[in-house]
Amino acid sequence: MSHDPTASLREEFAATIGDGVDSPWRAAFAAVPRHTFTPEFFDQDQRGQWRRVTRSDDGYLRTVYSDTALMTQLDSNGVPTSSSSEPGLMLAMLDALDAHPGDNVFELGTGTGYNAALLAHRLGAENVTSVDVDPELVALATRRLAEVGCQPFVHAGDGALGYPQRAPYSRIIATAAVRSLHPALMEQAAVGAVIVAPIGYGVVRATVTEPGHAEGRFLPRPALFMPRRAPSRGPDFEALREQSPETTALPVADTLGRWKFPLSLALPGYNSCSWRSDDGTVTGVGLWTEDGSTATARTSGHVRQAGPRRLWDTVEELAALFSDGQPARDDFGITITPEAQRVWYGTSEGPSWSLATDQ
Ligand SMILES: C[S@@+](CC[C@H](N)C(=O)[O-])C[C@H]1O[C@@H](n2cnc3c(N)ncnc32)[C@H](O)[C@@H]1O
Repeated sequence: MSHDPTASLREEFAATIGDGVDSPWRAAFAAVPRHTFTPEFFDQDQRGQWRRVTRSDDGYLRTVYSDTALMTQLDSNGVPTSSSSEPGLMLAMLDALDAHPGDNVFELGTGTGYNAALLAHRLGAENVTSVDVDPELVALATRRLAEVGCQPFVHAGDGALGYPQRAPYSRIIATAAVRSLHPALMEQAAVGAVIVAPIGYGVVRATVTEPGHAEGRFLPRPALFMPRRAPSRGPDFEALREQSPETTALPVADTLGRWKFPLSLALPGYNSCSWRSDDGTVTGVGLWTEDGSTATARTSGHVRQAGPRRLWDTVEELAALFSDGQPARDDFGITITPEAQRVWYGTSEGPSWSLATDQ
């Protein structure tokens, strides 16, 4: 990779991101120019308005070479659809991947191409395959990868299904949140392969123990990734009107925030909202999943639930299970077989929740 005037900025950036652990990936962060992959990004002001930031803006390079996620694509509603993830989290995931030169790596979510460039820098471009669902992003990433002189194999398609033509993979990293590891991707994983993937509000690291089987645990650090793009139904508050109210003894205002991580595993892809009075006090919360199941709970203790799944019942179960306090992420693990995938708490025999494998 060619030398450029940002080299010293990159070196400092590479030395300071993450929690200071020794990592073979720091050299890649020092060598690969992040700014080539993020010539512009979007910054949100306090009112929630997005502003485009480009190379000519003050502070551009300072932000690019800081431990900050950069939103690089917004949809027509202003919802981010692609980003360059927080470098410290990228480093933690690359460390967890435990890849070595010679490994054949698959990446789900090319995005800007920056992570693919880091992988290619350390492992050799010929050993990296990266897939993004958005053909425009793939075209941009391909151009920028060529600019920094490395050309991993980049393809437009549904990365959740892998890329069988270049399998078997000994390392698989997802940089978009997935609901589970699709059986098609599992078939492309070699025995002994390490898989690192965001599931819910965490990142799981699993090792393939035999064809189609894997076992692992979540990393201790929190993570919020863009979901793999999929259609979703909104909440059905109308249907709640017909339901007679039940009661809850839970402290409604802070319950969803408190059990956010286990909820993201038990109710994959759930959404939530809250209602407030004029003085800002929370008066109720809403919860829904993409099959249209919806629940609301008022701070008065009234709960209504409708749809195929009783969502508040799951909240009650989790609150009872973790009544002693918030569980640590790395107390949770995953078991994958060709027939089913489950996340569990404590041990693989502990309380567990099924993950749908068809999405
Ligand atoms: C956080 S960004 C990836 C960051 C990227 N690795 C980088 O270094 O810039 C998530 C990406 O996942 C992509 N994505 C979402 N669903 C996908 C799918 N089903 N298959 C492949 N890519 C997908 C999005 O288009 C987005 O670019």
